[in-house]
Amino acid sequence: MAQYDVIVIGAGPGGYVAAIRCAQLGLKTACVEGRATLGGACLNVGCIPSKALLHATHQLHEAEHNFAAMGLKGKTPSVDWKQMQAYKDDVVEQNTKGIEFLFKKNKIDWIKGWATVPAPGQVKVGDDLYDAKAIILAPGSTPASLPGVEIDEKIVVTSTGALTLPKPPKKLVVIGAGVIGLEMGSVYARLGAEVTVVEFLDQITPGMDPEVQRTLQRILKKQGINFIMGAAVQSVATKAGKAKVSYKLRKDDSEAEIDADTVLVATGRKPYVEGLGLEALGIAMTERGQIATDAHWATNVPGIYAIGDAITGPMLAHKAEDEGMAVAEVIAGKAGHVNYGVIPGVIYTHPEVASVGETEETLKKAGRAYKAGKFSFMGNARAKAIFAGDGFVKILVDKNTDRILGAHIIGPAAGDLIHEICVAMEFGASAQDLALTCHAHPTYSEAVREAALACGDGAIHA
Ligand code: FAD
Ligand code: NAI
Repeated sequence: MAQYDVIVIGAGPGGYVAAIRCAQLGLKTACVEGRATLGGACLNVGCIPSKALLHATHQLHEAEHNFAAMGLKGKTPSVDWKQMQAYKDDVVEQNTKGIEFLFKKNKIDWIKGWATVPAPGQVKVGDDLYDAKAIILAPGSTPASLPGVEIDEKIVVTSTGALTLPKPPKKLVVIGAGVIGLEMGSVYARLGAEVTVVEFLDQITPGMDPEVQRTLQRILKKQGINFIMGAAVQSVATKAGKAKVSYKLRKDDSEAEIDADTVLVATGRKPYVEGLGLEALGIAMTERGQIATDAHWATNVPGIYAIGDAITGPMLAHKAEDEGMAVAEVIAGKAGHVNYGVIPGVIYTHPEVASVGETEETLKKAGRAYKAGKFSFMGNARAKAIFAGDGFVKILVDKNTDRILGAHIIGPAAGDLIHEICVAMEFGASAQDLALTCHAHPTYSEAVREAALACGDGAIHA
């Protein structure tokens, strides 16, 4: 029986990062992955392929809408969908092969197949049994189902099917105005589809800053995406290659239907824990079907840890990665730590949306005295030069100490700008610390500085 210090189950951003860090810390490590390629949902059917399609279609949008204004005239590009898919697949392959290279470099054994845990300290893959002093469960998540809706991955698809449609649909109905719905909805709207998003709540992107929610919805509407809000989807019927989505409006219980060529079900994801043998092991689960862990990612069974989408917290690749590094350090006897108060969230629509820390709602609820400093990208020269003045940076600080508590950005490169604020928060910085830092001109990050100035005596270009 092969023996390891650590066996990681699942090679997504949580699992592969945990495996690399374990190996770097001198632990003999193997990682079991059932998929044909490494990288998990993120690299294969999530973050990476979706961002490739968002990038390609954004270029098309720029050519169609902004090139002429900049004096770039002539034929606008036409879409070769097969080639766009090939480009996306190539990006995925480069990244998954990259993880394979990192495994070889760090001398991590990739055990190919689906793992079960027959007993603490043992992992079974096919007929082979492996011994491990510690086991890290990183099995990730899969799309959640919706009652009354049968997924066939042809007409009624999850995000996985939406990434590989045989051709862009003419009419796309997206169920759920969350991150997946808005990102994939944007892709197909830019490709000319009539996109309608049906959302249960009255706002898009639950949990986000309400001003950001309203601004993003307004901009997406302008980009041609239709929204039916406060509507609970009841069922989806398919016939002769088409679909009919039935929904009920929450305000008056009235029912209506909408036709589609393709329906994307984007109503959340759930932990993928089937087949691991967790019940027989007596692993405690949360009410929401996640693997329960303590503050050091230990389950209730000694020697078995869990991280990533399969445990509590936001289902984000970088959250899984941070936990992967931290749990490896804990297993190696070091002080692994994740600051859950500073995990940014980004939506890669155009404009991008990024947020970190507290929102005005959470601060009000906690009764904390705060101040908001806001700056519009209309006052940012660089943003105006690329037709991206619509949006803002909002920084929330403690009213008495000026310490940064959170930030919400909608605008160009928001997903990159947010990290200046994350670093500031990790250092316990005040808005004045950011405001007194020289920012290069002309950059989008000047808008972050201006929002920090707005927390004090006022922004300059407001
Ligand atoms: P996963 O990535 O799901 O990996 C788990 C792996 O474990 C899988 O490969 C699975 O095959 C394997 N596995 C499971 N059980 C077993 C078993 N018994 N034996 C062997 N192998 C097993 N997050 C972001 O931060 N940014 C984004 O832009 C982003 N975009 C996304 C877009 C889409 C369309 C989707 C669906 C998700 C996106 N996410 C994004 C979320 C992100 O993909 C997840 O948060 C992340 O992949 C979670 O990492 P993980 O390691 O926990 O699990
Ligand atoms: P989500 O939780 O972000 O959004 C689901 C939406 O569906 C919610 O707005 C919810 O109110 C709505 N909904 C639920 N039931 C409904 C019904 N019956 N009818 C109408 N609407 C309904 O989930 P999503 O978009 O599926 O994403 C799953 C996970 O993947 C997220 O947790 C996210 O963190 C991650 N992800 C992250 C990305 C990023 O970081 N850029 C990109 C894509 C996914």
